[in-house]
Amino acid sequence: MRKKVTVVGAGNVGATCAQEIARRDYADVVLVDIVPDFPQGKALDLNQAGAVLGYEPRITGTNGYDETADSDVVVITAGRPRAPGMSRDDLVATNEAIVTAVTKDVKRHSPKAVLVVVSNPLDAMCHVAKAVSRFPKSRVVGMAGILDTARFAAFISHELDVSVRDVTAMVLGGHGDQMVPVVSATTVGGIPLSELLPKSTIRKLVDRTRFGGGELVGLLGTSAWYAPGAAAAQMVDAICLDQKRVLPCTAYLDGEYMIRGMYMGVPTKLGAGGVEEIVRLKLTADEKKMLRASASAVREVVGILKRK
Ligand code: LAC
Repeated sequence: MRKKVTVVGAGNVGATCAQEIARRDYADVVLVDIVPDFPQGKALDLNQAGAVLGYEPRITGTNGYDETADSDVVVITAGRPRAPGMSRDDLVATNEAIVTAVTKDVKRHSPKAVLVVVSNPLDAMCHVAKAVSRFPKSRVVGMAGILDTARFAAFISHELDVSVRDVTAMVLGGHGDQMVPVVSATTVGGIPLSELLPKSTIRKLVDRTRFGGGELVGLLGTSAWYAPGAAAAQMVDAICLDQKRVLPCTAYLDGEYMIRGMYMGVPTKLGAGGVEEIVRLKLTADEKKMLRASASAVREVVGILKRK
């Protein structure tokens, strides 16, 4: 039987993610949005794109949840995006209410789904989705690390003028300006980054990565969508196809990395069961310190949630 993936939120990120998934050709896609006619229009357009690009999935647009029943994976992108001058954390109250309502509907219709949360502030919204759904921690995971890592990898590949395919980067921590690009685990063609670039250049790339989302908001007037949509689709692949990919994702930590009871970006094994393992990675003393600082920043945002 074909897989079924629901994407909640037919805005830029949701629609990009839906298209990426449709192009893979292994799942039907349901696109949900509260705006009348909008998801229906996007779905119709995406179906017609399939006639050009040669993909078969049925893409359904809807304002309700009946069509989403028994989805294998539900990607939650609903919520307000960032506007210039806004941090991800500024969105907390508005998006907490939205993610709460969405999660209730999703749970009712797809009680066995894996939830992939994309809404910001990401780490806190994962917390909300887990608390509302009461799904096991393995079935509520957030998309941030793949995106942040992609940004770091892109900057490295441009700096060195090498293929981005040969860059293996790693960004952990919360999806905020305190995220932790893990230089010690970043290699190019197997060669440690620290052997290829001077410290000062690496620091510049690390800083640009940390503020990578903000750079795009400044340019676009709203949050980015191509890389976020593609990153969420990569997680859907790993889950639906049971790929057991080792990817940086936002997972609930129960003492791993010395962090307990909160969501943070860490290397995970992602497969049919969702987060099948939190992969341990040796960090330098400096990186550990940065991870703790990032955890404090996440804890502060979680602290202002209505639902703890
Ligand atoms: C970004 C937003 C989506 O990092 O958080 O672009």
